Amino acid sequence: MSKKSTFIILAAGEGKRMKSKYSKVVQKIMGKPMILYIVDEIEKNFEDGEIVVVVGNKKEDVYKVLEGRNVKFAYQEKQLGTAHAVMCAMNEVSDDSENVFVLYGDAPFIKADTLKKLSQKREEEVAALCLLTAIFENPYGYGRIIADENGNVIKIVEERDATEEQRKIKEINPGFYCFEKQELVNVLSKIDNKNNQNEYYLTDAIEILNREGKKVVKTTAEDNFEVMGINSRYELFVAEQELKLRINKEHLSRGVQIIDIYNTYIHPDVEIGKDTIIYPGTFILGKSSIGEDCVIGPQSYIVDSKVGNNCHIQFSMIESSEIKDNVKIGPYAHLRPNSLLEEGVKIGNFVEVKNSKLGKNTKSAHLTYIGDADIGENVNLGCGTIFVNYDGYKKHRTVVENNAFIGCNSNLVAPVKIGENAYVAAGSTITEDVPANALAIARERQTNKEGWVLKRKQMYGNK
Ligand code: UD1
Ligand code: MG
Repeated sequence: MSKKSTFIILAAGEGKRMKSKYSKVVQKIMGKPMILYIVDEIEKNFEDGEIVVVVGNKKEDVYKVLEGRNVKFAYQEKQLGTAHAVMCAMNEVSDDSENVFVLYGDAPFIKADTLKKLSQKREEEVAALCLLTAIFENPYGYGRIIADENGNVIKIVEERDATEEQRKIKEINPGFYCFEKQELVNVLSKIDNKNNQNEYYLTDAIEILNREGKKVVKTTAEDNFEVMGINSRYELFVAEQELKLRINKEHLSRGVQIIDIYNTYIHPDVEIGKDTIIYPGTFILGKSSIGEDCVIGPQSYIVDSKVGNNCHIQFSMIESSEIKDNVKIGPYAHLRPNSLLEEGVKIGNFVEVKNSKLGKNTKSAHLTYIGDADIGENVNLGCGTIFVNYDGYKKHRTVVENNAFIGCNSNLVAPVKIGENAYVAAGSTITEDVPANALAIARERQTNKEGWVLKRKQMYGNK
């Protein structure tokens, strides 16, 4: 059994380079706030992992994003350095925790397997600390790793303190540490701020531990993407591009056909079934799932929605809705929140649906607004049907029962009910319930004025 772990995530910094009024760690990458990547990864992979987030600058943003999550918060009033931030968190660390990880909130892609390697190696080597290192072709700006011939870490030199020789070192500190808890407590009390920044550097822990004859070991990241830190808008862009490709390649490997992996945006928590084909310009976002054998796109936008098997969605937008199997949507349809399309439904050109349910095999092929409606099975909504759901003060619902037929260009003024098998004549404005099996005609009767054109020509001549 592995030992209990605490994960301290530092998120109190200012994030100046992002030039944002929001906290850096809540900036979104593929729609998901940065800090949630780390929190999700820990929650999924460490059964009794405990998370302590150190907040300071723009802390309200961080609280909001982590609302309802199983994390503790520690408050760092002034940002006096990374070691000081860890000190602020120590009160929240449980007594029975043995491995204390320190992570930075702006490095979102770290994998649990890599973190597990840190604690395993620390335990195997009976070390006070195991840290992750990475080899960067351009190490500028990072703390450099000074190690001995056995691979033990002697110290970390920050860029600004490094000599010409040390600056050439490509092994850097990306900022992932696993401490033995008691050793961390001891070493924190010995770190001072006697440097030119007057900051308490967590990286000073390494030199102090060495001086005391304690062991500091390292493992090296195999994938530099995992240790990528995000400080600026450009780095955010680079991270998003890379993540997008990785997500898309993962779907390809599971049997989803993505026609253009560069032009398809699938959020990290989306699930897609086998043999579904996704055409370019498509966004599948939030907590969405798509079934098997679907054809999605081109140019579709699906957010927080559930789509069944064998559905076709083209040039359309779907928000917070559910779509059962064999449904066809688009081109140019819009499903607004809380809509449910049962099996075999068809929603065609310029049809908007809001807060409505459409029963099996119901069809609305063109130019229709369906708002606040409960529609049964096999209903045909003619072109230009409008569900008049709003009286200027309140929304009202409309019921259309099974097999009803609504003629083109009809208004159904809610609240109103169209009974089973009933017909509504084209061009009707329905304000009263229509009984089952009835035909409702609610429009002016037609009159033909015989010879009207000829008379007119006599008056005005030919044009
Ligand atoms: C740090 C490391 C450096 C490493 C680099 C990797 C130290 C002294 N140096 O440098 O070796 O190569 O990260 O990116 O640790 N924070 C707080 N409170 C503070 C200070 C910082 O919460 O008082 C948080 C920041 O919000 C950030 C993280 O700690 O998430 C790192 O701080 P930062 O100031 O960016 O450290 P670097 O100078 O980048
Ligand atoms: Mg930094």
